[in-house]
Amino acid sequence: ISNHSSGRMGFAVASRAMKLGAKVTIIHGQVDVPPPGADVIREVKSASQMKTAVLRYLPRCDVLVMAAAVSDFRPTRRAKEKIKKETGIDSIELVKTADILLAVRDRKKSSQIIVGFALETADGEKNAVTKSTAKGCDYMVLNMAGMDTGFGTDTNQVTLFKGTEKLETSPLASKDSVAGMIVDMLAADGRLEKAKR
Ligand code: CTP
Repeated sequence: ISNHSSGRMGFAVASRAMKLGAKVTIIHGQVDVPPPGADVIREVKSASQMKTAVLRYLPRCDVLVMAAAVSDFRPTRRAKEKIKKETGIDSIELVKTADILLAVRDRKKSSQIIVGFALETADGEKNAVTKSTAKGCDYMVLNMAGMDTGFGTDTNQVTLFKGTEKLETSPLASKDSVAGMIVDMLAADGRLEKAKR
């Protein structure tokens, strides 16, 4: 499980999986809420550190849930001190960060289950299916960024895909209950059995 935004969605999935008896490792970035107790908790400060941590734990994991809203870009230069108004800055140059799921896709064993998230603002289902295929996900969770969904909210609404097949759309509900749906989907497919302690 990894996380790079408010933390609520990934942490809710972790809690639900633990309730069902799974041994859970949480890898999270900057979050608004504390992580729930887990067997292992790793905090990272950048997309690159998250990639290193995910790949380190990957060989030992049966199910990887990538709920993290990983930054797609990072500034090329880091200022050592505060940039003063008088000195100014004309522009900030950005470079792409590495895509963690693509790295996972190329290294994972066929028995390992990968759950990706797709955060979209338009053409959600189409983009989620394209992402699921491109990133080699076994399951894809689509959430649309909105007032009550996606970032920084206590609620969410998701559409679940198994590979590219649409399974169901949740009602607008607490992130905890949406996490319950995701974990139930994995449990119903027998995907959590190996992850149990
Ligand atoms: N992800 C990742 N590494 C990144 C960015 C995203 O592994 N550098 C993962 C996310 O954790 C999520 C999935 O890829 O499980 C989709 O992330 P999303 O932000 O929806 O899409 P992107 O791949 O970043 O593509 P785009 O921003 O163009 O929609």
